[in-house]
Amino acid sequence: MRLLVTGGAGFIGTNFVKYILRKYSDYEVLNLDKLTYAGNLENLKDLEGNQRHRFVRGDICDASVVERLVGEGVDAIVNFAAETHVDRSIEEPTAFVITNILGTQTLLTIAEKHKVRRYLQVSTDEVYGSLGEKDLFRETTPLAPSSPYSASKAAADLLVQAHYSTYELPGITTRCSNNYGPFQFPEKLLPLLISNAMNDQPLPIYGDGRHIRDWLYVEDHCRAIDLVLHRGKPGQVYNIGGGNEHQNLQVARLVLEILDKPESLITFVKDRPGHDRRYAIDASKIQNELGWCPVTPFEEGLRKTIAWYQNNKKWVADIQQGEYQNYYQKMYVHRDETLLKRL
Ligand code: NAD
Ligand code: TYD
Repeated sequence: MRLLVTGGAGFIGTNFVKYILRKYSDYEVLNLDKLTYAGNLENLKDLEGNQRHRFVRGDICDASVVERLVGEGVDAIVNFAAETHVDRSIEEPTAFVITNILGTQTLLTIAEKHKVRRYLQVSTDEVYGSLGEKDLFRETTPLAPSSPYSASKAAADLLVQAHYSTYELPGITTRCSNNYGPFQFPEKLLPLLISNAMNDQPLPIYGDGRHIRDWLYVEDHCRAIDLVLHRGKPGQVYNIGGGNEHQNLQVARLVLEILDKPESLITFVKDRPGHDRRYAIDASKIQNELGWCPVTPFEEGLRKTIAWYQNNKKWVADIQQGEYQNYYQKMYVHRDETLLKRL
């Protein structure tokens, strides 16, 4: 089988490409990635010389590059490529609309033209908006995105559905909860907390820190995508969740406990506008239809993730030298000097 994986130099894409190449000795992966600030060729270094992996730098919005790759003959497309950070989408939404919506549209059109046998859109539970204290997101929950990021992902999901209904494109959408694990860019909560705690820097917590996310270890997610890719039903949506609901403050405390650092590093900062209060997934559809369930308990996954960041300090340090440094300054220091009282 020949897969076109887009966004395969980012966090989940990197983990997925490696998972697939490890699991299926006869599969080939074409990896198309624009290498934005979030894409990193270092992630793929151990695949150098692997004849079954080919990296192509390019944009999913660029029909000519997508056409060229799909025209070579691919059995399936798995689309991870996206602008993914909610805070950045609040500051500068245009790139989210372009990549997440127009990029998806470009892939769908070309997949349809070449009669690709499977198109899998990797989406997010954030398209459902925010939950109250009870209830869970089901595949039938109405879409109610809050941020420019989640609105652009919801639009892409609807395009996948429309291509299924209109052109019978065998598209499937997965909507997962918050992932964590190796190779996650340190602007997202968990790697940010880990790298700051390792360096005795403040851990910025938005608002009252009681926002809840359902944490999914990235390898459990890769296993779910693999199952949906091979056995999911075209036209369907599958929710994927970790069954690990935790408040951000609890997560920060656990990181500090594992690293043996003081709780005084926790620093409350101004809340994110439109901050969704709670996400939690009902994953019974993928469990009942495909037999998937998450197997990594949160503390075990967190310990593995922390160990990875401890063993890959240079990976983080290299990122922190680049564009990220400006971003971090803008987010937490220059925007409002009172935000991080300790800095
Ligand atoms: P990421 O930001 O780490 O990686 C995104 C990758 O896409 C990067 O390598 C980047 O270079 C690439 N990319 C961006 N724009 C591109 C373009 N126009 N053309 C080609 N490549 C481009 O993201 P991630 O966390 O790995 O997320 C992967 C997917 O999973 C996204 O679609 C995201 O919406 C979805 N998702 C992520 C999470 C999570 O917790 N990380 C949760 C739910 C859904
Ligand atoms: P994030 O990792 O950005 O993922 P998402 O917003 O897509 O869920 O944030 C996870 C949670 O952590 C979310 O409730 C916002 C919060 N958060 C902080 O409290 N501080 C931070 O510095 C960041 C980046 C996030």
